[in-house]
Amino acid sequence: MTIDYSDNNPALGALYPEHVQTLAARHDHALEQAGASHAVIFSGNPKIAFLDDYQMPFKPNPHFVSWAPLTTLPFSYIVYTPGEKPVLIYYQPHDYWHVVPGAPDGYWTHQFDIRVVHTIDEVAAHLPAAREKCIVIGEIDDESLAFGIERINPTTAVNILHYARGSKTAYELAVMRLSSQRGASGHAAAEAAFRSGASEYDIHRAYCKAVSHTDPELPYSNIIALNAHGAVLHYTDLDRTAPAEQRSFLIDAGAQVHGYASDITRTYSYGDERFQALIDRMDEMEQSIVNKVQVGVDYRDLHIETHIMLANVLVDAELAHGDAETLLETGVTAAFFPHGLGHLLGVQVHDVGGFMQGESGTVIDPPSGHPFLRLTRVLEEDMVLTIEPGLYVIDMLLENLRGTPAESHVNWVTVDWLRPFGGIRIEDNVRVMNGGRENLTRVAFADRV
Ligand code: GLY
Ligand code: MN
Ligand code: MN
Repeated sequence: MTIDYSDNNPALGALYPEHVQTLAARHDHALEQAGASHAVIFSGNPKIAFLDDYQMPFKPNPHFVSWAPLTTLPFSYIVYTPGEKPVLIYYQPHDYWHVVPGAPDGYWTHQFDIRVVHTIDEVAAHLPAAREKCIVIGEIDDESLAFGIERINPTTAVNILHYARGSKTAYELAVMRLSSQRGASGHAAAEAAFRSGASEYDIHRAYCKAVSHTDPELPYSNIIALNAHGAVLHYTDLDRTAPAEQRSFLIDAGAQVHGYASDITRTYSYGDERFQALIDRMDEMEQSIVNKVQVGVDYRDLHIETHIMLANVLVDAELAHGDAETLLETGVTAAFFPHGLGHLLGVQVHDVGGFMQGESGTVIDPPSGHPFLRLTRVLEEDMVLTIEPGLYVIDMLLENLRGTPAESHVNWVTVDWLRPFGGIRIEDNVRVMNGGRENLTRVAFADRV
């Protein structure tokens, strides 16, 4: 099956105008509340390495990318004025050192009044003359790039935009289905490489080839962890040689389409049946959590429920004993599962707004004892989030249980058995619906066969 990831994809083109209307309405509200007349959204500029002339990979302003699928267009601006067609100041430098952006092309072009400029100085003439009525949204690390606009990222406006971004438009959902499909193709290639005995580095290369991404194009650094490396939550070392014995494989890798990410984790056993049975149990648990996702659910409750379910998995796997509440309260479940259940996903992998109670920016803290939970909101329609429970042997955390009431609840012999396998994480990307959900990841995997 060939998938159209291009910016001439007609299905995306059909959905895009409504997406722009939604963004316009959000900006109307943000500007009104901030008492401003124009939003000037800066795409960003590449960073230069210290004492060097080397440019780091360009990371665009996510606000800019949510307006237009232009992930490689530094020094450009979108000017939004309520009631008017947005202006895109499209920077196309005269530069013989680098490939410069081509002529604007794609489904997005019809929604903008596009002004191509070839020097930064030309930008000024396309900005509203009344700079005092403008706000800038973006990272301005050189004052000259604000062209005299003094209000940069005013909290009132930015909070409104961040809160609203939790729920995706139909266009964003369509793009994210594509990024899930792209990620699924990478995962299939990576699993095949693992089964053939490849090193972490070669599995990574197989993944990148399948998704057609260079490293900087990946939404985050791939976690390709064989054996005990699976216990390092953000393992990114990529050993160049395959281990003498292949036991397990944990892969946390995503893909992007038009700047929108997928974020997918799978864990595989190389043949050990006991480890496979534990993966199956975690997979079953992960799917039962996914099946609780719907509008109105408090994500903090889902996180705590996951700890209770995990306690039962630990007991069944003979990693721990005791009742679930005790294992939660004594910190046993947190030692095996020390990260959050998941986070909002979109134009950023950890999309902003996960802690916001409302558009004013009031923060909802994570439950006590669970500081790494990145989503504390009540779920709303068309949010896209991850569900990613895990179970790991992290000795640094398990050792902390020694000498506490938790110690006697842990079966240390089974911990020794599990240690060489590292751990298990299973992560899906899920769209919240009224009375239900859409599992973008499972659909993408199923569509491959
Ligand atoms: N891959 C980063 C995360 O799962 O949040
Ligand atoms: Mn992940
Ligand atoms: Mn994630």
